[in-house]
Amino acid sequence: MRHFPSPDDVDLDAFYGLPPVAVGGVHVRSNFVSSLDGAAEVDGRSGGLGGSADRRVFRLLRWLADVVLVGAGTAVAEDYGPVVVPPERRDRRLAAGQAPIPPVAVVSGSLRLDPSARLFSADVRPLVLTARAAPADRYRDLAAVADMVVCGDETVDLATALHVLAGRGLGRVLCEGGPSLHASLAGADLLDELCLTLAPLLAGPDHARIVGGHRWPKPVTMTLGHVLEDGGSLFLRYLRR
Ligand SMILES: NC(=O)c1ccc[n+]([C@@H]2O[C@H](COP(=O)([O-])OP(=O)(O)OC[C@H]3O[C@@H](n4cnc5c(N)ncnc54)[C@H](OP(=O)(O)O)[C@@H]3O)[C@@H](O)[C@H]2O)c1
Repeated sequence: MRHFPSPDDVDLDAFYGLPPVAVGGVHVRSNFVSSLDGAAEVDGRSGGLGGSADRRVFRLLRWLADVVLVGAGTAVAEDYGPVVVPPERRDRRLAAGQAPIPPVAVVSGSLRLDPSARLFSADVRPLVLTARAAPADRYRDLAAVADMVVCGDETVDLATALHVLAGRGLGRVLCEGGPSLHASLAGADLLDELCLTLAPLLAGPDHARIVGGHRWPKPVTMTLGHVLEDGGSLFLRYLRR
């Protein structure tokens, strides 16, 4: 049997380091964990799928990103909070020209987000990417606790949203899901990279996958970047072909 190194035994930065992004450029990386049979959640959350090595990779990808992009469904289901960056990584980020802590950007058309949720009491003000049709009262309430960015009429135009993020110096985008947002990004050919943890379990039928929503006209092909392994979990990095 072929053995792959564990995330514990390698320089994870070397494995997951991002290519330099040109000024105004964008690199969109997504990070998901899935069961062997493709489930992206168990009982509505992803936490039951990943182990300690998955959490290590999850944290590192956050520390490398300029911004963490997430759909409203995931922000609510997973009770999103601010990104936590330890002091030594903050220094590294500053040296690399990044803010010490990446903000979280939530994509929502309905703005059914609680302004008192812990995400909105973060030191780093989150962004909310929304559309012109969003309810005015919810927009006003959230504007008190987040930077509101309108990118589209009825729904958020994701290409525009990425362009706006890049314009704010947030070109290295880490998308943490969920399936609806992920499918929209990948289906629109806006995804550069997928980091996927394959957890050694079968979750059974009727679970959300890492993409959800409508069928695409054609599949998106990717090429393998690396494989790491720990405790039967595979850590796969795929790049857009
Ligand atoms: N396995 C994993 O790694 C992983 C990762 C993330 C999430 N998950 C799981 O996925 C589930 C949540 O899935 P989900 O599909 O509901 O989540 P989602 O993609 O995070 O959120 C969907 C919501 O995002 C907003 N949205 C997305 N694209 C938009 C656009 N173009 N314009 C406007 N709004 C947009 C909409 O919010 P509004 O309704 O507010 O308009 C939409 O209802 C949870 O069970 C979570 O645990 C798993």
